[in-house]
Amino acid sequence: MTKFRHRLATSDDLPAIATLMRNAIEQLQAAYLTPAQIVASRESMGLDTRLVEDGTYFVIEAGTLLVGCGGWSRRATLYGGDHAAALRDDRLLDPATEPARIRAMYTDPAHARRGVGRLVLALCEDAARAAGFARVELMATAAGEPLYRSCGYTLIERVDRLSPRGVAVPGAVMGKDLV
Ligand SMILES: CC(C)(COP(=O)(O)OP(=O)(O)OC[C@H]1O[C@@H](n2cnc3c(N)ncnc32)[C@H](O)[C@@H]1OP(=O)(O)O)[C@@H](O)C(=O)NCCC(=O)NCCS
Repeated sequence: MTKFRHRLATSDDLPAIATLMRNAIEQLQAAYLTPAQIVASRESMGLDTRLVEDGTYFVIEAGTLLVGCGGWSRRATLYGGDHAAALRDDRLLDPATEPARIRAMYTDPAHARRGVGRLVLALCEDAARAAGFARVELMATAAGEPLYRSCGYTLIERVDRLSPRGVAVPGAVMGKDLV
């Protein structure tokens, strides 16, 4: 069994994270989306450097290899990379009344289905709980939904994430109580 280590991401990790995300978006969504939808999904998926700056973004390594990443957030943005300006909301959430966010989960395709995603989710949930949050919510891609379901997340609402070019990409708002 591969031994995975985790740590918080730093700005030095950004190029490797971007490559991993690109590969995951292209390859791991292929069973769920049409090629046009995969292209459209890039418009809202990818790197959110705010999570790295906030110290809420994890990387998973096997030896020296980056094999996965994902994070949580105490900010209102539900999903979207740096380039998805319309989706961003930096407002700080109130742990007493609002759910923290789970954000930007990606696994290197060569290391898929080995528990990397499950590990990142557990790290995020523990950190959000330690910060006082009683619940987490996220926007799931079609490729992400089986992971979240298997980790106890339930469906809140199905949505079509409409790309600026009008291609509908399926999404699901999901959530989980932490206590
Ligand atoms: C979603 C993603 C992060 C899952 O990562 P992963 O490391 O392969 O997930 P895990 O190995 O931890 O999977 C844990 C469980 O989730 C479920 N699961 C994960 N991927 C699945 C798939 N493709 N089909 C069915 N079940 C799946 C299974 O129950 C799995 O347990 P099992 O392998 O013992 O059966 C990865 O597929 C990915 O990067 N996808 C593309 C990017 C993306 O859509 N990210 C989600 C953004 S919301």
